[in-house]
Amino acid sequence: MGRILIQNGRIVDPANRIDVAGDVLIADDRIERVGGRVDVAEVPDVDVIDAEGLLVTPGLIDMHVHLREPGFEHKETIATGTLAAETGGFTSVASMANTDPVSDSPDVIEYVNTRAEESASANVFPLGSITSKLAGEELTDIPALLEAGAVAVSDDGKTVMNAELMRQALALSAELDFPVSVHCEEHNLNAGSVMNLGETSRKLDLPGSANAAEDIIVARDIMLAELTSGHIHILHVSTAGSVELVRWGKRRGVHVTAEAMPHHFTLTDSEIETQGTNAKMHPPLRSEKDVEAVIEGLCDGTLDAIATDHAPHAPSEKALGMIEAPPGIVGLETCVPLVFTHLVRANRLSLADAIAKMTYIPAHILHIDRGTLSVGAVADVTLIDPERVAKVDSERFHSKSRNTPFDGWELTGWPVMVLRNGVPSEKR
Ligand code: DOR
Ligand code: ZN
Repeated sequence: MGRILIQNGRIVDPANRIDVAGDVLIADDRIERVGGRVDVAEVPDVDVIDAEGLLVTPGLIDMHVHLREPGFEHKETIATGTLAAETGGFTSVASMANTDPVSDSPDVIEYVNTRAEESASANVFPLGSITSKLAGEELTDIPALLEAGAVAVSDDGKTVMNAELMRQALALSAELDFPVSVHCEEHNLNAGSVMNLGETSRKLDLPGSANAAEDIIVARDIMLAELTSGHIHILHVSTAGSVELVRWGKRRGVHVTAEAMPHHFTLTDSEIETQGTNAKMHPPLRSEKDVEAVIEGLCDGTLDAIATDHAPHAPSEKALGMIEAPPGIVGLETCVPLVFTHLVRANRLSLADAIAKMTYIPAHILHIDRGTLSVGAVADVTLIDPERVAKVDSERFHSKSRNTPFDGWELTGWPVMVLRNGVPSEKR
């Protein structure tokens, strides 16, 4: 049996309310012991990893990633996207369905799973789409998608504008117990918009989208979840209104969960002036007040998870200018240091809550068997150096794409290595 001892780290496993100095012993692909000191002399043939000064957490999970394969391999592949994940400290990613072909049939889910087995450096949990071809007109065969291995359904990138279709999807969710993950923008209201509606959009004379475009759909979908008892998951919350609505839904006992992205808790729409298309995404960067509300939502538990919406686009596409360039930014290789620098070290969010939002909470939302260091659990582990200071250098990204507004930012708290199924990243 192969054994690995991660020695002298600070073990942070929020699911088990553990925050202690000590050792983690791994046997093959499982966690064997957590905490205390393991005497190396008593464990034959053990490989030791020195974790002095490092945090030892469950393997991080990013529940919102675009891997682009099949169909958009010039932006990213499962191989490059999961290498970016591994570098960024993530051992698992949930991959969105807006591929080409769309993940609207079991065949595409199976294709993603096969490609992941062949080429991935992180566990890939695919989503299927809610509607065929993301067209918003006809539900997919959701039970068949789940059967093929989809962990959730989403038309991310697009809102399902037909409320009756959403009701049907959520009724199925109540019956079969899976999340319906929704992109919330009323497309009649945000038609043609390339950024947030506000001072900056007026100054730059660019078409803007009001917060109301997001809030209206968040309200609608929470109400539909209440009507059906289904599970609604609100993707990339960006407005103060959405945070308030999710809080309201939770108070009413609706099965609503929600996530926030690093860009929505660190940047405002004024970023467009200096960063241009590298700050263009849907939903867009908003105002200071919205950023503050998103942080409050993370702190009080309204926003359950932190995810990236890693959305790679080729440089030539992002060079098309604000009107034509596709929306989205890469996020896998900057998430952890942004969370540490802007939430944890800034004393906004506790370390345990930050780790919880990237481990057992997303695992729980997606019903995946990951996110803890419980004895017997799969040995997915992330090591983070909370004191490491480094600058973001997009030229060194493992992602195929470079579209980030964080290039050159000096951040503190970086992932150092991961183990997946008990295998250290450096050994792969
Ligand atoms: O900015 C975005 N880009 N938002 C989405 O919801 C989709 C994503 C993409 O696929 O590029
Ligand atoms: Zn998205």
